[in-house]
This record gives sequence, C-alpha cells and structure tokens, in this order.
Amino acid sequence: MPDVIPVAFHSEHDDPNAWEAALRTHLPELEFRLGNADPDGVVAALAWNPPHGFFAPFRELKLVVNLGAGVDSLLGRDDLPPLPISRLNDPGMVQLMCSYVTHAVTHYARDFHQFQRAQRLGEWRYIHPRPLSAYRVSVLGLGELGAAAAEALARMGYSVTGWARSAKSVPGVRCLSGREGFETALREADTLVLLLPLTPQTRGLIGAVELALMKPGANLINVARGPLVDEAALIAALRSGQIAEATLDVFETSPLAGGHPYWAMENVRITPHLASITIPEAAAADVAESIRRVLRGEPPLHQVDPARGY
Ligand code: NAP
Ligand code: GLV
Repeated sequence: MPDVIPVAFHSEHDDPNAWEAALRTHLPELEFRLGNADPDGVVAALAWNPPHGFFAPFRELKLVVNLGAGVDSLLGRDDLPPLPISRLNDPGMVQLMCSYVTHAVTHYARDFHQFQRAQRLGEWRYIHPRPLSAYRVSVLGLGELGAAAAEALARMGYSVTGWARSAKSVPGVRCLSGREGFETALREADTLVLLLPLTPQTRGLIGAVELALMKPGANLINVARGPLVDEAALIAALRSGQIAEATLDVFETSPLAGGHPYWAMENVRITPHLASITIPEAAAADVAESIRRVLRGEPPLHQVDPARGY
C-alpha cells in the first residue's frame, strides 16, 4: 500500500470533517482533499451530485464512491469516467430507513392521520384498532433497504409482501417477482411502500393504471425516488380518494416548488428527502476497504452495475 492515499470529496449534504475523521480511522494513509483543485495522485472520489466536469482532472482515479445508495443521478451523467462505482451501504442508513418506513406505515395502520384530523376539530373519535396481521403492506424493492424495511414490518406483525426483480427470501415476508407478482403486490396492499432504484425500467412504474389496480383507499409511501411515480396520476388518485393518503419523501423535482399541489393536500405528508442518510462512522470502514481493494486491483465492496442501474 502507498504511504499516502489521496482521496477527493464533494457533497453539499455531507459533512467533510465527519467523513475525513471517520475515514482516517480506517485509512491512516488518507490525504483528504476537498473538491478537484488538487487532483494529482487522487485514487478515489467520494461524491454526491458533484458539478459537471468534476471527475475530469483526476488522472489516476480508480474508484468513484457514491455518497448515498441511489446512483441514478451519477449514472445519468455524461462526464462519468468508466471506473468501478461503489455505493454506500451501512447499518446506520438501514436503521434510519426502517425507522421512517415503520413509522409511516404505522401512522396509517393505527389511524393516527384520522386522530390528528379529529383533534384539530376538537372531536373524540374512537376507531377500533385492527390487528396488525390484518394490515397488508407491499414493499416494492427488496434490496439493502427494502428487504430490511419489509423484515422490520413483518417483525412488528404486519402482513408483508415484497417484490423484486429476482426471487428473494426475506424472513416473514412473502416475496414475489415478475409482472404477476407486481400486480398482486399492488392489488393487496393497504399501504404500498416504494423502495426501488430509479432506472429506465422503474421510471413511471406507478401510473394511473397501477394506481387503479390498488384497493380504493389504499395508501402510498415513496421513499425511493420521485420519478418512479407519475405525479399527475398520483395527484388525481389522491383527489378522487382512490389513494387515501400518501407520505412522500421524494419528488419529481426537489425541493418541491412553492405552489405545488401537494402542499395544500391534507392527505399528503411531505418530508424533504431525508428518510435515510449515511452516517460516516458507520460507512467509513467499507469505503476504506473498497479503496484498498481497488489499489490491489480488486473490485470494491457494494459495486454498482451501471448496465442494471443499481
Ligand atoms: P438496492 O440494494 O440496489 O436494491 C434494489 C432493489 O430493487 C432490489 O431488490 C432489486 O431487485 C429491485 N429492483 C430493481 N429494479 C427492479 C425492477 N425493474 N423490477 C423489480 N425490482 C427491481 O437498493 P436499496 O439500497 O434498497 O435502495 C433503494 C432505493 O432507495 C435507492 O436506489 C435510492 O433511490 C432510494 N433511497 C432513498 C433514500 C431517501 O432518503 N429517501 C435513502 C436511500 C436510498 P433484485 O434484488 O432482484 O436485483
Ligand atoms: C438517498 O436518497 C440515497 O440514495 O442515498
């Protein structure tokens, strides 16, 4: 291993000091450089939405580390070097996503949305609780985050169906794949959770036809990417009551514009894309290991397949 390992960093969301400290714990040879002004010798770039042309000055780059799970914006660029890409995948990110999803599902399953409305009207409105096993949740996407969220929901007692591209086995979760499995997952859900990556195959996956397949009055939680859903179709379904409630962390365009219809919809809960974030202390060991691996000529951990899109 070289005595010094220069690594470049760019993110407007992540704390460079926290990343430098966490990475140095596992990579004492680290030379941490902000941005691309000093590119000589840089072997790895840790980046989230860097400006166009960011990668061009790095002549010795061997690895791009996407400072997040979803690589859609990275793979969509025309200035991405043909190098291994590693996504983040850490227990802190999984825990945060599980907390968000279990909270959002429980909010609807335990009728908190109804109690909040009743309280605003000063009404004592009793709604008899139903057993959690009678509440069906479908989770689309059974990857690092989707499988963990589905399993967490199943452990709580919900009846959980998961759907992925390939056959899966997740404890307590009925796992489906294929078009038939997709439609079953939609038809049966009291709440549908989206945890798919944004790829050419998943863009617009949930449109008017798919929303119409769902039970009238079902709920939707999107913690993946906005463009998975046809926004106009969702707004229409939320207005008609076909979809009763939605919790949305991601949108077609972020930040959500001031006059966007969602802001005024009482049945929409909005959070500003923070269902899950990366905790540098939890992710740094794997990033350091990936850097060591590419320096030895091996593939990094959590490597993304650009052809697959995730
Ligand atoms: P992942 O590990 O890459 O897993 C993706 C899952 O989706 C896999 O189960 C995959 O199936 C399935 N899938 C992909 N394309 C499919 C298709 N065309 N049809 C059916 N299933 C398909 O992803 P992850 O780490 O769980 O994260 C999912 C997404 O969440 C990320 O891509 C990102 O966009 C989003 N995210 C959002 C936040 C936030 O704060 N809101 C935070 C982190 C991540 P196979 O297993 O069969 O390949
Ligand atoms: C956040 O959205 C991520 O993809 O990590």
